[in-house]
Amino acid sequence: MTEQTTRYQPIAIMASGKGSNLKLILDAVTQGRCPVDVRLVISDKAQAQALEIARSAGVPQVLHINPKAYADRAAFDAACAEEIDAADCRWIVLAGYMRILSASFVRRFRGCIMNIHPAILPAFPGAHAVEDALVYGVKASGCTVHLVDEVLDGGPILAQTTVPVFDDDTPEVLHARIQIEEHKLYPATLARMVRQGFCIEGRRVIWNDE
Ligand code: GAR
Repeated sequence: MTEQTTRYQPIAIMASGKGSNLKLILDAVTQGRCPVDVRLVISDKAQAQALEIARSAGVPQVLHINPKAYADRAAFDAACAEEIDAADCRWIVLAGYMRILSASFVRRFRGCIMNIHPAILPAFPGAHAVEDALVYGVKASGCTVHLVDEVLDGGPILAQTTVPVFDDDTPEVLHARIQIEEHKLYPATLARMVRQGFCIEGRRVIWNDE
């Protein structure tokens, strides 16, 4: 095996919505900017555009797993985990995945799940981050890529980018400005994680020397 193939780490991506972050990650992979092997895409929503994007990009396994078919959150997450293990994925990348993960899922893949959030954490965790930031009146917001632990949007921070907030912003306008940065930050952070690696000291992510 060449050095380059050993660095193509297998990943699963989970997405619930329009899949723009998923698309930009897949583009980065195709263009050689992100050395990962996207083996599996899972969505909890049958209508998620993310599924179509993944199929068109030729992802080997693209699955809709229906939460309603399972007794509870843990059972649904266990079904997802089985697919992730079967595909032998090293990382799980949440790209607009709007379900809270069960503690058992987080424990099973501890340190190997990353998420992108449309605010500068620890400000404005949760599902309405863009609206919450506007209502609060912040003059800057942005996006955060972080590891996932049992606390909602609470894991160690890998990368952040800020954007200005203007007086006439609506949630849609601000979210669009944030997403421009998400689309750069997420593939770049994933690539850095795979190429460079990091260790964790307390809550701090310390990147390895390049
Ligand atoms: C992104 O803005 C992401 O930060 C956010 O959902 C959007 C998904 O967009 N995630 C969360 O709010 C998670 N709490 P996309 O489907 O176009 O990638």
